[in-house]
Amino acid sequence: MPDDLLAHARAAKGFMPEEEGEVLHRWARERLPHGPALEVGTYCGKSAIWLGAAARELGGTVFTVDHHRGSEENQAGWEHHDRSLVDADLGVMDTLPTFRRTIREAGLEEQVVAVVGRSETVSRWWRTPLSVLFIDGGHGVDPARADFRGWPRWIMADGVLLVHDVFPDPGDGGRPPYEDIYLPALATGAFTEVEAVGSMRVLRRTSGDAGDPLG
Ligand SMILES: C[S@@+](CC[C@H](N)C(=O)[O-])C[C@H]1O[C@@H](n2cnc3c(N)ncnc32)[C@H](O)[C@@H]1O
Repeated sequence: MPDDLLAHARAAKGFMPEEEGEVLHRWARERLPHGPALEVGTYCGKSAIWLGAAARELGGTVFTVDHHRGSEENQAGWEHHDRSLVDADLGVMDTLPTFRRTIREAGLEEQVVAVVGRSETVSRWWRTPLSVLFIDGGHGVDPARADFRGWPRWIMADGVLLVHDVFPDPGDGGRPPYEDIYLPALATGAFTEVEAVGSMRVLRRTSGDAGDPLG
């Protein structure tokens, strides 16, 4: 990771420990020459900087999808609420302005493309083969299932699926990324686990190709 972008990644608001950000960066470096990356769950752009750094180094594009209204745990009264991210006029979360500033300051506007909308809506119309898919969106059962239904089938042969906040031990954290994305992906037989760091899991598509039904 280039020093200037490492500083931006460290300074950005978000939920990406450095050792897991390094995993994103390394796999994006390996895979971006073969096709674009897509992230579900932009928030303020912290993980997008790790991915975008690889795109700046090697060429390539990172799409990042978010409705920018925050997940359940980002809403007022919940554990991960940040009052500075509330639109004062509308009284709702809006992480888009902070994301825009973060990516601008990091110098990654050419590499990182925001797609603003519900993940389910965007995935319904998505048709582009993905070389890297990183799922870090809504962590409830319904959004996790929708992300699994909507996105992994667009991963190309040899592409990778990275899933964040995968906790096999329920004592460590919430279940949906583990039960509703990671385990079902392995159960399709189309993916093989290739790396695990912290709560990050990396699965490579070892059978089928983009657009093929999974399982
Ligand atoms: C855990 S945060 C992402 C953190 C980010 N990857 C980082 O490294 O800081 C999850 C994000 O997913 C978004 N999100 C949740 N459900 C969504 C949905 N159904 N469609 C689009 N975005 C969603 C939220 O708005 C929130 O910004």
